[in-house]
Amino acid sequence: MRAAGPGARAGPALLLLWAAAGLSAAASPPAPPLFNVSLDAAPALRWLPVLQRFDLDFLRSAMAHILGNKVPKWVHAWVGKVVEELEPFLPQPFADEIRGLCEVLDYSLADCLLLNLVYESTAFCTSIVAQDSRGHIYHGRNLDYPFGNFLRKLTVDVQFLKNGQVAFTGTTFIGYVGVWTGQSPYKFTVSGDERDKGWWWENVIAALFQRHYPVSWLIRATLSESENFEEAVIKLAKTPLIADVYYIVGGMSPREGVVITRNRNGPADIWPLDPLNGAWFRVETNYDHWKPVPKEDDRRTPAIKALNATGQANLSLEKLFQVLSVFPVYNNYTVYTTVMSAASPERYMTRIRNLG
Ligand SMILES: *[C@@H]1O[C@H](CO)[C@@H](O)[C@H](O)[C@H]1NC(C)=O
Ligand SMILES: *[C@@H]1O[C@H](CO)[C@@H](O)[C@H](O)[C@H]1NC(C)=O
Ligand SMILES: *[C@@H]1O[C@H](CO)[C@@H](O)[C@H](O)[C@H]1NC(C)=O
Ligand SMILES: *[C@@H]1O[C@H](CO)[C@@H](O)[C@H](O)[C@H]1NC(C)=O
Repeated sequence: MRAAGPGARAGPALLLLWAAAGLSAAASPPAPPLFNVSLDAAPALRWLPVLQRFDLDFLRSAMAHILGNKVPKWVHAWVGKVVEELEPFLPQPFADEIRGLCEVLDYSLADCLLLNLVYESTAFCTSIVAQDSRGHIYHGRNLDYPFGNFLRKLTVDVQFLKNGQVAFTGTTFIGYVGVWTGQSPYKFTVSGDERDKGWWWENVIAALFQRHYPVSWLIRATLSESENFEEAVIKLAKTPLIADVYYIVGGMSPREGVVITRNRNGPADIWPLDPLNGAWFRVETNYDHWKPVPKEDDRRTPAIKALNATGQANLSLEKLFQVLSVFPVYNNYTVYTTVMSAASPERYMTRIRNLG
């Protein structure tokens, strides 16, 4: 099942991390497989080399499980009826990529589309963007998902190539064309956290007919198209979406870090780093930052405590990974942790958590 050995990308930095965490190398969480996907290939064909590296029967059973558990029966029936009519409204290249994937998997287009929408609804996450005392920007995230066992085995890092060069990197699940986490090298990094305002399938399908973007597709489109931090923030803040979300963005220069709270039609709030006034990090989980967090799900305070204890002077990607490993920021639902810094793109690092 795993295409790349977990040790394949373990560099000296990671060994240091293991030592610092007091863990043996054997106990450290593994990296997901790394794939290249060429954007120079036709959209319907570009994921096939990746699919070939996976057990298709396992993929089909994972899909059936996720669809069966997460999509109400009436939505399934309804999307089955409207999908042909809907397809021309879906943004490219995503629609063609989904069609190509579902032909290989021998699934209906409706099922593949639903699979590509379903994670927009139930992900709990923590994202942190921070600046150290020398002005370097770091960005990290945990992706938490209840019943994430299938997802752990489907998680991959993907390098998207243009003209044979790495244009951007993202972390995603096989069969899923959007990305929740990604990096445009020497430009910016992005992660998305769910913002739950009640999940209404009617509204989502209606919004698709209005050419609104699924939230993870907009992350990928931004990584692909935006030339710098500022352009990325504007695109992520303004493009109409099918659902509310938090976008966390890190850049190349001091103060380039922001949490964008999104309504479907536009920004609800923009919350930048303010290091001159002591705000050298921003922590976003799944609640509006200007409101208190619910007591039963407070991952915000423990993350802030851990960052305070680290101190701005001692911040690094390794330290950020440790902050993202503190309970309950890290919890039983955590599927993966990624840490990244646009100025050091080679240090993009994802680890699968709770693999058991
Ligand atoms: C991916 O593409 C890059 C750029 O062409 C290349 O250097 C690298 O070896 C490729 N990696 C894999 C896993 O194929
Ligand atoms: C973190 O540090 C700041 C600045 O010293 C302080 O205001 C805040 O209360 C601390 N937060 C926690 C949760 O420790
Ligand atoms: C940062 O590291 C220095 C030395 O590496 C240490 O003396 C200092 O206590 C650390 N600061 C915090 C807040 O842990
Ligand atoms: C996490 O999973 C472990 C092992 O299954 C279990 O013992 C523990 O109670 C769980 N913790 C929480 C907070 O759910």
